[in-house]
Amino acid sequence: MIEPEDLLNFLKERRSIRSFQNKTISDKEINMILEAGQWTPSASNRQPWQFLIIKNKKIIEDLSKIARYGKFIIEAPLIIAIVGKVNQNPNWYIQDTSLASMNMMLMAWALNIGTCWIGSLDREKAKEILGIKKDNFLLTILPLGYIKGSIPNSTNRKELKDIIKEIE
Ligand SMILES: Cc1cc2nc3c(=O)[nH]c(=O)nc-3n(C[C@H](O)[C@H](O)[C@H](O)COP(=O)(O)O)c2cc1C
Repeated sequence: MIEPEDLLNFLKERRSIRSFQNKTISDKEINMILEAGQWTPSASNRQPWQFLIIKNKKIIEDLSKIARYGKFIIEAPLIIAIVGKVNQNPNWYIQDTSLASMNMMLMAWALNIGTCWIGSLDREKAKEILGIKKDNFLLTILPLGYIKGSIPNSTNRKELKDIIKEIE
C-alpha cells in the first residue's frame, strides 16, 4: 500500500504537460496506462468504455487541427481517445469515462509520461476522424509522451477554506 502522505504529494505534483519528446512509449508502459483505465470504478461496474490507441502521425496531425487549445498534441507520439459506450451505461457514462481519464493520467504521471486533458476539441469532427459511431461519446483525447523541457510550475488552487463548508 502506498503511504497516504506520498499519495497526496503525488497528486499535488502532477502537472498538465503540453510539450513532448519525439520518443516512442514502450508497450509495457502503454499497457500499464490502459490497465489503469480498465481498473476504474464505474456505476454498476458496467465499464462502458473503449480506449482507442492512436500512433498514426497523420491522424494525430488531423486531431491537432481541430483541438483549439490543444495544437500541441501534434508533438505526442501517442494519443489515447476515451470513448463512452452510451447504451452500456446511459445515465453514468460521462462520470465513468471521466474517472477512467483521471486514472490513466495518474498512471502516466507515475511513469514519468506527461499528458493533458483536452477539452477544446470539435468532438463531432474527431469522431469522424477516429471512426467512432455517432451515438457513442468521445470524452477526450489524451496526448501522451515523455516530458520535453522542465516540468511546469504548479498551477494555483483555491484555498481549502474557500471550497469547503461544514454542514451542521
Ligand atoms: C475538463 C478539462 C478540459 C481541459 N481542456 C484543456 C484543453 O483543451 N487544453 C489544454 O491545454 N488544457 C486543458 N485542460 C487542462 C487544464 O488547463 C489544467 O488541468 C489546469 O489548468 C490545472 O493545471 P494542472 O493540470 O497542471 O494542475 C483541461 C482540463 C480539464 C479537467
